[in-house]
This record gives sequence, C-alpha cells and structure tokens, in this order.
Amino acid sequence: MKEYKWATVGCGVIANQLAQAMEAKGKKLYAVANRTHDNAVAFADKYGIDKVYDNMDDVFEDEAVDIIYISTPHNTHISYLRKALAKGKHVLCEKSITLNAEELAEAVALAEENHVILAEAMTIFHMPIYKQLSEITASGRLGALKLVQMNFGSYKEYDMKNRFFNRNLAGGAMLDIGVYALSFVRWFLSSQPDQILSQVKFAETGVDEQASILLKNREEEMAAVILSLHAKQPKRGTIAFDKGYIEIYDYPRGEKAVITYTGDGHQEVIKAGATDNALQYEVEDMEKAVAGVSDEMHLDYTKDVMEMMTKMRQEWGMKYPEEE
Ligand SMILES: NC(=O)c1ccc[n+]([C@@H]2O[C@H](COP(=O)([O-])OP(=O)(O)OC[C@H]3O[C@@H](n4cnc5c(N)ncnc54)[C@H](OP(=O)(O)O)[C@@H]3O)[C@@H](O)[C@H]2O)c1
Repeated sequence: MKEYKWATVGCGVIANQLAQAMEAKGKKLYAVANRTHDNAVAFADKYGIDKVYDNMDDVFEDEAVDIIYISTPHNTHISYLRKALAKGKHVLCEKSITLNAEELAEAVALAEENHVILAEAMTIFHMPIYKQLSEITASGRLGALKLVQMNFGSYKEYDMKNRFFNRNLAGGAMLDIGVYALSFVRWFLSSQPDQILSQVKFAETGVDEQASILLKNREEEMAAVILSLHAKQPKRGTIAFDKGYIEIYDYPRGEKAVITYTGDGHQEVIKAGATDNALQYEVEDMEKAVAGVSDEMHLDYTKDVMEMMTKMRQEWGMKYPEEE
C-alpha cells in the first residue's frame, strides 16, 4: 500500500495520541496545522514532523497531503471539513464529526462529489473485539438480539476554560460521550432505531449534563443509554440475546468481552486487540479505505448516530450558537 501523507488540523490531547500511534507503527505525521502556531511548532518538534504551516489554511492547498485528521472542537469541524473535502483530501474527523445531521449531510455530499473517504474517528468501529463479536452474533449461536444497555459517565469540572461544559465549544454529554454509547448500540442493532424517548438534565451553562435514552427499531430490538458528564459510571455494555448475553468492559477501546450462555450458564471469554493500539487500528482501517482495499469506516452508522443525537437535541430545544 502507498505511504500516505497525513496532516493533522489541531494538536491537542487526541492529536498527541494519533502522533504516538503513528510512531508505534514506525510512521510519522507529515504536517501539522493549528490555530496557535507556537503549539504546532512544539508538537512538530516533539514528533519530528517536517512541516508546520504558517497559515492554517495552507494545509488544504498542500498537494502532498493525502489524508487530513481533524482534531479541533466539534463546532469547528464543519469549516475544516468543507475546505478539506473540496480540495479532494480524504478526512478522518474526530468525534463528534459535526454539530448536527444537516452539517454531516453537507460533508457527505462534498465527499461524494470529490470522490474521497470521509469518516469519523470512532474507536469502537475499529477495535478488533467488535469485529470478532459481530462474527459471533452473525453465527446465530446466541439467537436473536433483544436488548442493548450502555452507559457513559465522565466526571468533568464545571470549568468553562475547557470544552466539556462550554456551549461555545459545542460542549455537553451527547456530543462528547453520548456519541460513543450510541455508536456502540448502533453497532449491534440490526437497523437504526426509529422510536426514541429521552430525558435531559441541563448544566448551568446550558449544555446537556445528563441524559437517559430509550431506543427501539423496526425489528423491536431495544436499547437503553444513560449519560453523565459530572458523575463516573462503569464503562460496561451488555447485549442480550434469547440464548445468552455479552458483557464488554471499557468499551470505547475495549479488548475483552464475556459471553454467558444462559441455557447452561457456561461462559466464554473473548479477547481481541489491545486498548493501547486503538488509534493504530483507526489509522489502518482509514488507509485501507483510502486505498480501496476495504471500507470499514462505517459512515452509515455515523450518519444514523448523528441523526439520533440531532433529533434528541431538537426535542430538548437545545441549540448551539451556530444553530441559532
Ligand atoms: N476519539 C477519542 O478518544 C477522543 C478523545 C478525546 C477527544 N476527542 C475529540 O477530539 C477533538 C479534540 O479534543 P482534544 O481533547 O484533543 O482537545 P484539546 O486538547 O483541547 O485540543 C484542541 C485543539 O483544537 C484547537 N482549537 C481549540 N479551539 C479552536 C478553535 N476555536 N478553532 C480552531 N482550533 C481550535 C486547539 O488549538 P490551540 O493550540 O490554538 O489551542 C488544539 O489544537 C474533539 O472533537 C474531541 O471530542 C476524541
């Protein structure tokens, strides 16, 4: 496969992890573009990256760049997506890929027009454990899917300097962590839920701090999700079938699941992949998609999840400044 040239737009916490994932694969990022030039220079020094753009927008004009990784706050993604896709760049964009379904539809259309890969950096879709669990569920040995339960609780300070509770930086539980829980649910359900019930508790800053969500699809498979941005919860998911259930732990970058067969109570432990390699799997799948070898980026699931998140926020009357 070709040696693709990756550029990152943004150089914060998760961009550091991507740079480290590249290093672990014996590669490095080709270039970095960032709002604060000094931070880009420091990032480039740290990882031996050759190119730092003086003007951020130059990354989109750079003909050498094949794949752009967007790792800035959610509300800024669409402006970079527009520029990157219009210039024929493949894009791996951090979660949540856009603020809402309308922005995502625009980005998808642009990607199609320009014949490039667009994908959300959703670790769940790339961890080997999920691919293995899909094979097991497809084999039919657990019977029909009935219920999925998933929670995500993260404890973030009420600090407006970071993005978590800041409405101007697209904060809130749904876009920050709900996207993981709903992507997990969508991975296992046979189709997109068409019935959604939800409750929300807002933080003083006006963003969603907690939510409880009930989902059902046309196959009558059901899911329950509880989110919190100011209370930790175990990152444990359960998927129940008529002949048994799966429990999976630390699920955004999960590496272990236990299957209990309810007929006789015996258990099967499944281990696949490694939590520490999460971003490497993402990079590998993205490069295969760009090369046309296989497409395991699951933009279809990303669209379904974004539609659900948008619908719930609409029902709550919750808008970001960009949506007013
Ligand atoms: N997949 C995962 O496991 C995971 C984990 C964490 C985060 N994320 C996602 O990755 C994204 C970034 O999160 P992070 O934790 O890395 O954030 P972070 O550490 O705060 O870094 C944010 C980056 O975005 C830039 N930035 C901030 N505000 C900006 C603006 N208004 N316009 C342009 N650039 C701006 C910052 O540039 P300056 O240097 O100028 O401040 C910095 O490079 C989010 O979408 C988040 O949800 C994903």
